[in-house]
Amino acid sequence: MTIRAFIFDLDGVITDTAEYHYRAWKRLADAKNIPFTREDNDALRGVSRRESLERLLNGREISEPAALECLAQKNAYYLAYINRLRPQDRLPGVTAFLHAARRAEVKTAIASASKNARLVLNRLELTTHFDVIGDGNSVAKPKPAPDLFIWVADALQVSTAESVVFEDAEAGIDAAKNAGCLTVGIGGAKVNHADIHLKHGLKNVEPHSILRRLEALRSTRG
Ligand code: BG6
Ligand code: MG
Repeated sequence: MTIRAFIFDLDGVITDTAEYHYRAWKRLADAKNIPFTREDNDALRGVSRRESLERLLNGREISEPAALECLAQKNAYYLAYINRLRPQDRLPGVTAFLHAARRAEVKTAIASASKNARLVLNRLELTTHFDVIGDGNSVAKPKPAPDLFIWVADALQVSTAESVVFEDAEAGIDAAKNAGCLTVGIGGAKVNHADIHLKHGLKNVEPHSILRRLEALRSTRG
């Protein structure tokens, strides 16, 4: 089956907002005297805002209004960071890769767990580079459920088997595999389940080399 679409996660793949999510959670954790490290944050990559709070609280019980206040506070901290994002904050290689994908007539989309995805894309001046944008408002069940990738493939009018997903988080790789997509792990965090791993992201990567590698892999799997 021919590959017809590239579906990108946003945070950690297109731009390094993972750092800003970390700083925002860290401020909240410090204010509440909850220990929280960068390693803890790595485990939250691709995880929804609500589930991230549950993991940060690590069994500490709080009322629903207090939880909602924490979520709003974390988002306020996060928004203050991303309002300063600029097109220069695209990760290395992203712009060239997107242009090359267009030239190769591969459709492109975003599938992000973030409710702030459109804002981030606007700040990066990338909104018009994608045929479809799926975000934290598009489906009810967050990654690792396959729903967001199925929703995006559907909107692109391709099958999930014709789609390659680029993800920096194992939760996202698992979601993409559950949906039936091929997968490319991006960056230094744990993405052991990916079909291909690009440790240094999209820098100096050609869409054609990804297509060749994945198609070869698929033919050996039969
Ligand atoms: C994902 C991030 O893309 O979006 C997670 O990797 C984040 O760290 C999630 O929690 C939800 O983002 P937001 O912007 O809706 O809080
Ligand atoms: Mg991510």
